[in-house]
This record gives sequence, structure tokens and C-alpha cells, in this order.
Amino acid sequence: MSDGQQGKSPQDSAIETTYLVMPSQANPQGTAFGGAIVAWIDMAAAMAAQRHCGREVVTAAIDSIIFKEPIRIGDQVMLKASVNYVGRTSMEVGVQVTRQDPYGGNSVVATSAHLTFVALDENKRPVPVLPIVPRTDAERKRYENAKIRVKARKEMIEKFRQ
Ligand SMILES: CC(C)(COP(=O)(O)OP(=O)(O)OC[C@H]1O[C@@H](n2cnc3c(N)ncnc32)[C@H](O)[C@@H]1OP(=O)(O)O)[C@@H](O)C(=O)NCCC(=O)NCCS
Repeated sequence: MSDGQQGKSPQDSAIETTYLVMPSQANPQGTAFGGAIVAWIDMAAAMAAQRHCGREVVTAAIDSIIFKEPIRIGDQVMLKASVNYVGRTSMEVGVQVTRQDPYGGNSVVATSAHLTFVALDENKRPVPVLPIVPRTDAERKRYENAKIRVKARKEMIEKFRQ
């Protein structure tokens, strides 16, 4: 459970959602269109970010996305999204996409992504968010890894602003 204003754990705002891949979401090879997967990822991640901060959020960046395995028409696709790390107004959300053959039960991680969301106030300006309080070993590891990525991204943004 959350500690109110002290912060929330990643589990407090985590999202799990499932889709069935339909022909309209596939390319001529019968595998899922990457853009459809990205839309699902963005939506799941945005919901986790909204739950964390209790505010309107915008996608500031899709920082990384790796398509490791193809996803096929008829596959069930499970998305797990959770907040890895927060800055002042931004949140890094990690999304893991698992593909499952509904008949054979074979389940593999097909795609993973990191996205940055920014919380907005009533005037659509960035607003501070609650701290994130990792509680499990896995959450602490994701937090530490995200901290390194966020630092590297900020340095890169600064470099290109000059
Ligand atoms: C995201 C947005 C609100 C940031 O506004 P801004 O004036 O640059 O705000 P700031 O410079 O104060 O940055 C706010 C936070 O966003 C982070 N940020 C800004 N641009 C970023 C980027 N490209 N990647 C990652 N983080 C970014 C900053 O590091 C800062 O984080 P912090 O408060 O945790 O330290 C603004 O760029 C925007 O509205 N973009 C359009 C969003 C949108 O329409 N998304 C839908 C996609 S089509």
C-alpha cells in the first residue's frame, strides 16, 4: 500500500492488460504491426504514470523499445507497466510485453520498452510528482537501473540544447 504523501511503490500504480491480436493489427506477413504494439505500450505506460501521480500526463519520450520476438495474429498479448523511477516532474515507466499462444500456452517476452511521462498541472505545465518507493528487490533493481538511464538522458538532452 502507499504511504500517502511520502510516496508510492511501483506496485501501487502497476498496470496489467491483455489484448488479442486481430488481423487489422497485423502486417502482410501475419505478424503484429509494430505501431499497434507501440500504441498499446504507450497506453499501458500512461495509465501507470497517471495512477502514480494522480494527474494528467503526457508522453515526453519513448526512450527505448526492443522487439525481441514476433507477435502473431491470434496471440494473446499481456502488457505489464510500472513506474521504475521518478524525477521532479517526470516518471520513467517500464513495459514488458509477453506473447502467449492461447492453445499451446507457450509464453515469451516479445517486446520491452522504457518511456518518460511528465505530470501536468491545470495550466498544462510540468508539476512535481510523488516520490517512488521501491519495496521489493526487483523494484529496487529497476529503480537503480532507471536512475542510470535517466541521468544519461538528461546529459544527452543538455548536450543537444547547447
Ligand atoms: C513533455 C513536456 C511537457 C516537457 O515540457 P518542458 O517545458 O520541456 O518541461 P521541463 O524542461 O520543465 O521538463 C520537465 C521534465 O520533463 C523531462 N523531459 C523533458 N523532455 C524530455 C525528453 N525528451 N525525454 C525525457 N525527459 C524529458 C525533464 O527532464 C523534466 O524532468 P524532471 O522534472 O523530472 O527533472 C513538453 O515537451 C510537451 O508538452 N511535449 C509534448 C508532449 C506530447 O504531446 N506528447 C504526446 C506525444 S504526440
